Amino acid sequence: MNIGNIRLENPMITAPMAGVTSRAFREILKEMGAGLVTTEMVSAKALVYENKQSLQLLELEGESWPIAVQLCGHEPDVLAAAAKMAVARGAAIIDINCGCPAPKIVKNGDGSRLLETPQLIEELVSAVKGAVSVPVTMKIRRGWDAPEETGLAAALAGERGGADAITVHGRYRAQFYSGEADWDFIRRVKEAVSVPVIGNGDLFSGADCVRRLAETGCDGLMLGRGLMGNPWLVREALRVLDGKEPLAVSPQERFAVARRHLAREVQIQGEHTGVLEMRKHLAWYIKGMPKAALFRQQINTGETYTQVADMLTAYETYLEEQQE
Ligand SMILES: Cc1cc2nc3c(=O)[nH]c(=O)nc-3n(C[C@H](O)[C@H](O)[C@H](O)COP(=O)(O)O)c2cc1C
Repeated sequence: MNIGNIRLENPMITAPMAGVTSRAFREILKEMGAGLVTTEMVSAKALVYENKQSLQLLELEGESWPIAVQLCGHEPDVLAAAAKMAVARGAAIIDINCGCPAPKIVKNGDGSRLLETPQLIEELVSAVKGAVSVPVTMKIRRGWDAPEETGLAAALAGERGGADAITVHGRYRAQFYSGEADWDFIRRVKEAVSVPVIGNGDLFSGADCVRRLAETGCDGLMLGRGLMGNPWLVREALRVLDGKEPLAVSPQERFAVARRHLAREVQIQGEHTGVLEMRKHLAWYIKGMPKAALFRQQINTGETYTQVADMLTAYETYLEEQQE
């Protein structure tokens, strides 16, 4: 699929997930074959004020292209200035967050709060389009709360503003992440707009991806929580879309990727933050394995890279011995 003038090698896009889709994880997702990866959401205002943590989220130099940077904000001039900063640092696409349900975000008028003001969405997209030469996309939900599907008006407003593609998560803000994403809503957005639509919500297997593409006629799909501890979902989806059987993931491969992820996270974020950030990822990587709960408790006591890496090795050895 194309987003503006950017040609993606395939339609599997990985979601922005705050606290999850760090650079280290995005690199793994790219290796698994993702057509496009997205950063965690970055506050446009914090970026413009040169907040150190926000600037760190934009350290993209040397990262495999293309990367979409997701910005969060509600002031057209601030968003436009932040978009320029992101493009200067390597963003291939700017995505505008119109879906985040978090109370601290919506109380500022950002994220899914924007779904109630389509006129403002149009202005935001148009301001960012005017500021940068890369494609601009937006990510919406179905609406604030049932039954008002304000997401439809939001999509049309984004298109009027010049959005090059629209990602639709088929849940209301009020649902947060509960219930099921409504893919019929996504299909209706796809019918209503003429720019590419990327469907999102509850894609956990290659079979889910094939089914949702067929049902909606979407141009692309965005994988979210299904990637947690399972970046292989990208590879699986691509194979199944290609009519092939998914490849099994051996325990050795699982541990090798987890170990590499740990090393890279520590290299990029420093030992303290890297180790803390990896606790949840490691818990996800080993979910469902024997004695996983015990190992998770242990991991949560590890403070240095060496301690955690040794714990991983010991756990892998334990599992191998159980197999014999
Ligand atoms: C931990 C977490 C963090 C998220 N952070 C963001 C974010 O920064 N920006 C955004 O647009 N959506 C964010 N989302 C929403 C996802 O991008 C996605 O739309 C949602 O999880 C639905 O897809 P899924 O059912 O495949 O998970 C986040 C979701 C989770 C679980």
